[in-house]
Amino acid sequence: RDLSCLLVQPPSIIAHRGASTDRPEHTIGAYELALQEGADGLECDIRLSRDGEIVCVHDGTLSRTSNGRGRVSALSLEELRKFDYGTWHRHGQAAGLLVLDELLDLVKGTGVQLFVETKHPVRYRNEVERKLVEALKRHRLDEQIVMMSFSAAAVRVFRKMAPDVRTVQLVSWYRGGAMPSFAHCTGPNVRLLRNDPGYVERARRAGLETYVWTVDSPEDIALCRDLGVRYLATNAPANTRHLLAAN
Ligand code: G3P
Ligand code: CA
Repeated sequence: RDLSCLLVQPPSIIAHRGASTDRPEHTIGAYELALQEGADGLECDIRLSRDGEIVCVHDGTLSRTSNGRGRVSALSLEELRKFDYGTWHRHGQAAGLLVLDELLDLVKGTGVQLFVETKHPVRYRNEVERKLVEALKRHRLDEQIVMMSFSAAAVRVFRKMAPDVRTVQLVSWYRGGAMPSFAHCTGPNVRLLRNDPGYVERARRAGLETYVWTVDSPEDIALCRDLGVRYLATNAPANTRHLLAAN
């Protein structure tokens, strides 16, 4: 008898901010390393510059991940490009600002999924989501892209604008109540699963896949695998693949 249907698929490995343990996050080198390490998907955060260009930077300010200062949204693309985004990292070399177009070019034709998290959605009236939709149309990449946000309003608006693109509703903490069934996937912090391992099964019953972040320790990796998590976001893709294969 073929029992293969009973085997649970291991989680897909999503490189969080690229291979960001070994390279400075959100640099092209971090994403290239993630691809070399065999990641199934890449994660990035996007914001708008003052002149409305989509840039890949996590924080609202520049100081942690570059030699610049000030708010990303207060500077133009040209001003943002003057800074170095690599040497702050212990394995870093000088690196330029990453814009979303470059990342879309990198994944094109690879079959690797790109999980794009929109930041500051409310303040700019969903302009970042609107510009993301334009970029996906330009690059014809709907199928390879997954949109994510902590903002339910942003996910709902995006779904109306791009009904064919998959979405993740990110969740920091679950206090009961309804699962985000307006999205394709729910995205809890791994700490939530440690406290509430039944979450993944409840999500499944609600018709949702689970994307879990940020999963680096052997214990958390084993937990996600045993619970049947669909997507696992990690800063160290090769090490995570190695640990998933063990036992
Ligand atoms: O992948 C989701 C996760 O990145 C959300 O948290 O703060 O790292 O963007 P943050
Ligand atoms: Ca993120």
